[in-house]
Amino acid sequence: LPRPELFYFHGVGMTKYFTENWENTQNFKARPDDILIATYPKAGTTWVSYILDLLHFGQTHPERLKSVPLHDRVPFLEIYIPNWLSGTDQADHLPTSPRLIKTHLPVQFVPKSFWEQNCKVVYVARNAKDNAVSYFHFGRMNNAQPEPGDWNTFLQNFMDGKMVFGPWYDHVNNWWKKKQTYSNIHYMFYEDLIEDPGKEIDRLCSFVGCSPSAGEKKKVLEGTSFDKMKENKMTNYTTVPVMDHAVSPFMRKGKVGDWKTHFTVAQSEHFNEDYKQKMKDSTLQFHTEVQKSLD
Ligand code: A3P
Repeated sequence: LPRPELFYFHGVGMTKYFTENWENTQNFKARPDDILIATYPKAGTTWVSYILDLLHFGQTHPERLKSVPLHDRVPFLEIYIPNWLSGTDQADHLPTSPRLIKTHLPVQFVPKSFWEQNCKVVYVARNAKDNAVSYFHFGRMNNAQPEPGDWNTFLQNFMDGKMVFGPWYDHVNNWWKKKQTYSNIHYMFYEDLIEDPGKEIDRLCSFVGCSPSAGEKKKVLEGTSFDKMKENKMTNYTTVPVMDHAVSPFMRKGKVGDWKTHFTVAQSEHFNEDYKQKMKDSTLQFHTEVQKSLD
């Protein structure tokens, strides 16, 4: 099958895959207890989805963890909400509250119902350089993504915002700004999760209102480690036919700073200059070694 083309949709790079269901998406009726997990692609969506899924349903629906892939338990708002989640199909064995829903939509495209219902939103951001590297490899292995080209080409496109779901810069900044007017957003960072997953899980728990026992929390921590998720068929995306894990596994490295093995010195300098320009009006700070190297 040919790779899909990137096209501009209301000014944002998209593929058909994510726009075909646009009307349903925009008309989506959120419920007050829905939890939306919002990210720029490759910022840690799967990781945070699994943490929240285990926190909510690990104890009550353990059978589901083994039989339903994570991407069906935490579906994509902009692709397809399974019937059991929309409530039109009664699948009694599946929990329907809270509904965990993920999205890569830039904040201005989020269906208004989420704001009207004052839903909780967990936004995950990842530093630009690692995010770009991860997105590049994802483009290589996922036939539903536009052809990424070589690394240099991809990096230039990333800087130019010619990406599915638009520029990284706008995405992280506009979601950050949203927090100023809509307080029910927990804005978190991939780098913090790597540094201290226990602490980040505690913070997530207080935001969503979970109080796991020490034993439960330990199980969540263990189950959501990179190594465990990489070997878990329900979380590693090996059940998805459009992805070729021989080219690059979905669970690729799971590290902070892998950009150093990809960026040349010249690319890094060029990127930093451009980054400073694009982020100059932003109060958003990535507390990582990447940020330090930009200071
Ligand atoms: P890398 O390509 O850098 O390895 P998303 O889920 O948003 O598509 O993000 C995927 C990225 O998150 C990949 O990054 C993947 O390896 C990483 N990831 C997924 N689960 C992880 C975990 N448990 N720990 C650390 N990184 C994880």
